[in-house]
Amino acid sequence: MAFDSFGDFVQQLDRAGELTRITQPVATELEITELADREMKQPGGGKALLIEKPTVNGVVSPFPVAINTLGSHRRMALSLGANSVAEVAAELGALMKAKPPTGFREALKLLGTALDLRHAKPKLVKAGPCQEVIHKFAAPPARPEPWPKAADFQSASGNQQSASASPTLLNLPILRCWPLDGGRFLTLPCVVTKDPDTGERNVGMYRIQIYDDRTTGMHWQLQKVAARHGRRYYETGTRMPVAIFLGGDPVFTFAATAPLPDGLDEFLLAGYLRKKSVELVRCATCDLEVPANADFVIEGYIDPAEPLREEGPFGDHTGYYTLPEPYPVFHVTAITHRKDAVYPATIVGIPPMEDFYIGGASVKLFLPIFKMNFPEIVDIALPAEGVFHNLVFVSIRKTYPMQAYKIMHGLWGMGQMMFSKYLVVVDDDVDVHNTSEVLFRLCANTDPQRDSLFTKGPSDVLDHATSEIAIGSKLGIDATKKLPGEGFKRPWPPLIKMDAAVKAKVEKLFGK
Ligand SMILES: Cc1cc2nc3c(=O)[nH]c(=O)nc-3n(C[C@H](O)[C@H](O)[C@H](O)COP(=O)(O)O)c2cc1C
Repeated sequence: MAFDSFGDFVQQLDRAGELTRITQPVATELEITELADREMKQPGGGKALLIEKPTVNGVVSPFPVAINTLGSHRRMALSLGANSVAEVAAELGALMKAKPPTGFREALKLLGTALDLRHAKPKLVKAGPCQEVIHKFAAPPARPEPWPKAADFQSASGNQQSASASPTLLNLPILRCWPLDGGRFLTLPCVVTKDPDTGERNVGMYRIQIYDDRTTGMHWQLQKVAARHGRRYYETGTRMPVAIFLGGDPVFTFAATAPLPDGLDEFLLAGYLRKKSVELVRCATCDLEVPANADFVIEGYIDPAEPLREEGPFGDHTGYYTLPEPYPVFHVTAITHRKDAVYPATIVGIPPMEDFYIGGASVKLFLPIFKMNFPEIVDIALPAEGVFHNLVFVSIRKTYPMQAYKIMHGLWGMGQMMFSKYLVVVDDDVDVHNTSEVLFRLCANTDPQRDSLFTKGPSDVLDHATSEIAIGSKLGIDATKKLPGEGFKRPWPPLIKMDAAVKAKVEKLFGK
């Protein structure tokens, strides 16, 4: 199902009983976070919130804020127009099985072809609601030297009085999420860039720190696709066009977070998932395209001649603040928006948060691709406590010795799975989504020294525990039943299980 706008999706959530409307004014400075955090900590992720009167420095914004819209399994499925993400994954798996690939590279190529088969290619159109209001900015003033601290800017923005003027980065309802944050941040921005060599497009979600009304940070981490595009512009010294959009069909937000292989257009995945090609319009001031039905678009560029600037601190996915690190500076040339735009936001912090459901949907959707390369994989789970890839549980149908280690090495070598810090492999009869069951098997089935493997690799730049940024060690634990040849020389005991007949009789007598 295709949604015409973010507001359209919010209405659908309302009809489905998945939305709470907040009618009293709530401050974008910390208060929305407190409200949303309470909601996200409810069992199953609580409800989406529509803050009808968000205030920016005490002034009510003309744009409502919707938050936690993808923060439950049901809402995540609704955003994809499906009953469950598993249903969508099964469909994608079946599409790819039509011609099984012989390797991972081919599986990825096939994913592109499979998506294409469904006429999912994006279409360029002349005009779209995302440009109903266009506000262009004159050439930027000379760069201040040295850069002011974000905190200085915050007090300057405190003088902001008018919320009805043209939208700028100062009067949009952009959240300041946590007390020690370095400023306000766009938390659900879809960032569009192009590879200057091939013209291939990428849409990635990278948070955006507001520095002032014309400049922001650009937090694409070292190993992400847009960072690779950026490096090519820095090498050639060419100004890099970048477009940031918010909202539109919620599937865009999901696609921007999905760990697609470099070179595979996120709009192709989005078109496939919404069963309708994504309509794109050309940006008003730069050579990029954005979804015609987006709610807000912020256009601009990065100048490789300019020094990097400190970004952060930011209360992050990890549950800790990410300390300031240097990132490129983005200059705004235009802000365009729909007249009825709804501002999409999320918060990250101590888990569980909304991102648990977004990341979980990615794992489910791409499980068929993992299984094509590793047919022994039964299921994969990223428990909320591990914040995406810190902790990965994998169940396998093990048939030969050391197979668990093959899976560890294989997964550490696949895309963003390289970030997995702890990887636990269990047998196929374990429900990896039940953390208690995995921990029971882990404790019961392992001899720590024999069954663990330390290795090294790239790490998530957000991981504050590694001695150096972006590199670290990994621990794999084989919690499967040991086979001959795995150094275990005793008989393996049976797992305790009651007879089915006794269970049935007791259930009949006493109920469940
Ligand atoms: C809410 C949210 C915020 C995120 N913020 C960032 C970020 O600031 N920087 C980053 O590199 N990745 C961030 N990510 C993860 C990326 O979106 C994710 O790795 C994505 O696959 C990157 O796309 P790419 O492979 O096209 O670069 C975020 C994910 C979510 C769900």
